[in-house]
Amino acid sequence: MSKPIVLSGAQPSGGLTIGNYFGAIRNWIKLQQDHECLFMLVDLHAITVRQEPALLRERTFDGMALYLACGLDPQQSSVFVQSHVPEHAQLAWILNCYTQMGELNRMTQFKDKSQKNVNNINVGLFGYPVLMAADVLLYQANKVPVGNDQKQHLELTRDIATRFNNLHGDTFVVPDPFIPEVGARIMSLQEPEKKMSKSDDNPNNFVLMLEEPKKIEKKIKRAMTDSDEQARIYFDQQEKAGVSNLLTLLSCATGESVESLVPQYEDKMYGHLKKDVADAVVSMLTPIQQRYKELREDETALTQIMAVGAEKASAIASETLKTVYERVGL
Ligand code: ADP
Ligand code: NA
Repeated sequence: MSKPIVLSGAQPSGGLTIGNYFGAIRNWIKLQQDHECLFMLVDLHAITVRQEPALLRERTFDGMALYLACGLDPQQSSVFVQSHVPEHAQLAWILNCYTQMGELNRMTQFKDKSQKNVNNINVGLFGYPVLMAADVLLYQANKVPVGNDQKQHLELTRDIATRFNNLHGDTFVVPDPFIPEVGARIMSLQEPEKKMSKSDDNPNNFVLMLEEPKKIEKKIKRAMTDSDEQARIYFDQQEKAGVSNLLTLLSCATGESVESLVPQYEDKMYGHLKKDVADAVVSMLTPIQQRYKELREDETALTQIMAVGAEKASAIASETLKTVYERVGL
């Protein structure tokens, strides 16, 4: 039996939080063992909002180096940059002709994004879900990991695939949404009632994967706890949101369960816990940061890895596109 095909993408960026890592990337890395994984940096999607060209190119390298440092394996999986595989744009054009304006008009993400980008509501932004459909359908992916914000887009992908198949005969695998095993949900350091996010205005709320250890220590020391005079340390997300978040972080970084950690803090103060969290997060990140640094310094090697990834992806994508051209009469 062949392994199920999973396709996933991320914006080109070296800015990921430990929330992204513990909640998503770490599980995604594990998936590689029993799935045929394709992972791409979606630079064609990125240009639907205005980008500084040199910076976009930097960020593509940053993103590639970071994902590889986290454990994406270019031998086991296909790791590539979207624009390096021209079939994405080619299939997207064809699928544009099989998508109704009305369907795209209903996409809530377009409504949100166009409200935030009133000066640049371009056609690419409107057609973004069609490019996403092409990304998925090119590889005959069975499963697509989607967050809540992409669910509607995947529904559209399924509709487009089904429509095309009905008109021209079975051409595309109709993909299923895939809710990967979720890791922990990490909350903001200073406002532990909301999730940690890189788009937070307050940088003290998040820790980035590539942040300096000194800065990480400072941020964790400043994390919000509570005014319990006895500084009791136990897990209760309502009564002790900040402390519980610290315990979750410690558990994620060390691999020890929260239940086994709590008794170790019976006679300790919040300061102890914070120091241990900071140490654990830093020692977990140190080898990743080291690998990142090595990978990022060698753009020639990264370019080579990207080229191999694009070749692997293109081998599959070109087969699908060939069939599509034939079916459409091109
Ligand atoms: P961010 O808010 O940092 O921009 P996204 O919303 O882009 O993150 O989510 C990217 C992935 O990371 C998703 O799979 C999401 O579930 C996961 N993720 C994001 N923030 C957290 C968090 N604080 N804790 C756990 N997982 C998270
Ligand atoms: Na976000």
